[in-house]
Amino acid sequence: MAWIEKYGHGGDLLTAQKQFGLVSQPLLDFSANINPLGPPPRVMQVLRDQLETIVHYPDPAQRKLKEKLSKRLGIGEEHLVIGNGAAECMALIILALQPKTVGVVYPCFSEYEKLSMAFGAEIKACFGKVEKHFKPELADLFALFDDVDLAFIGHPNNPTGVTYSEEELRAIAEQAEASNTFLVVDEAFIDFLPKNKQVTLMPDLANYKHIIFVRSMTKFYAIPGLRLGYAVSDPKIIERLQEKQVTWSVNQLALAAGEICLEELDYEEKTITLIEEQREYLKNLIEDRLGWFVFPGQANFLLVRLPGSILAEDLQWEMGKKGVMVRSCAMYPGLSLHDFRIAVRTKQENDELLATLQEVVEERKWRK
Ligand SMILES: Cc1ncc(COP(=O)(O)O)c(C=O)c1O
Repeated sequence: MAWIEKYGHGGDLLTAQKQFGLVSQPLLDFSANINPLGPPPRVMQVLRDQLETIVHYPDPAQRKLKEKLSKRLGIGEEHLVIGNGAAECMALIILALQPKTVGVVYPCFSEYEKLSMAFGAEIKACFGKVEKHFKPELADLFALFDDVDLAFIGHPNNPTGVTYSEEELRAIAEQAEASNTFLVVDEAFIDFLPKNKQVTLMPDLANYKHIIFVRSMTKFYAIPGLRLGYAVSDPKIIERLQEKQVTWSVNQLALAAGEICLEELDYEEKTITLIEEQREYLKNLIEDRLGWFVFPGQANFLLVRLPGSILAEDLQWEMGKKGVMVRSCAMYPGLSLHDFRIAVRTKQENDELLATLQEVVEERKWRK
């Protein structure tokens, strides 16, 4: 049996299809955390309408989207760089700031480490503990800052769903300033939270010269194949990031889609309500019907710990054979062989997930 995360991530349909021998059958994908509503319909329309524009180069300065985004975020355009996904923004940060040492908080998104090492940095880490649902002790985080040139935190963190309070974020940002450590706050999933829970220091950007916010538009607007993200920081840092960016790295269709996404306020509200409701629903279903422990994550995904000797790898295999993809988390430093992650999707899909989980439990005679 081989991992379907051979490239390090969920959502690899091609590997899963081959692995599970389900080439002609559509897979139900709970392994990538993408808005289950799909892209806003107007985005699909704009993509069709604008197909002809691919004979031209995209705007290398991404002017229209930058203007809209800066208005939306309430920040000057000089604070903003648009990238080919949040992933490109992270690469630009490391390329531009050239940290010799990078700090991460395990368990976390594997690209922090992968990109840092690819660009020659050494990784140092602290761990969130299971009894704290993987939220790190601030003292451990601060000690890490003393040891590194740049640190990543996820807010909400993937795969745990951990978020920080405003007070905690301020303490973290101030400590990063005090120790001259660049702090990357990865807010790729923050849009999925109810507006009153979208706690961010972005409006106070002027007070922090070492902080860089990274956001993704691929997850919330369900366009991961198109790629779109951005970073927000002090203009001097943004300039350094821009110097490293390959000209035209954000394609014309992604720019056009991004502009429409920002106008889709009803879609945004509908998504947030759905995710809030369905996350609770899914968590309760898994706890009540299967008796498995679900960590209290705040985003559009949930981390689950299997009881006893049940392995996430086995569960993933059994589910995959039935056409449902879940994300084994066994390879995340700080997690165990019994941990898996699922996206929060529509009620119908969540019910289907649960029914398939129950089938597998019955067939394998896994007891609580
Ligand atoms: C925490 C986190 N940040 C960033 C990304 C990358 O997002 P994008 O698709 O915008 O590159 C991911 C993708 O899985 C992620 O999980």
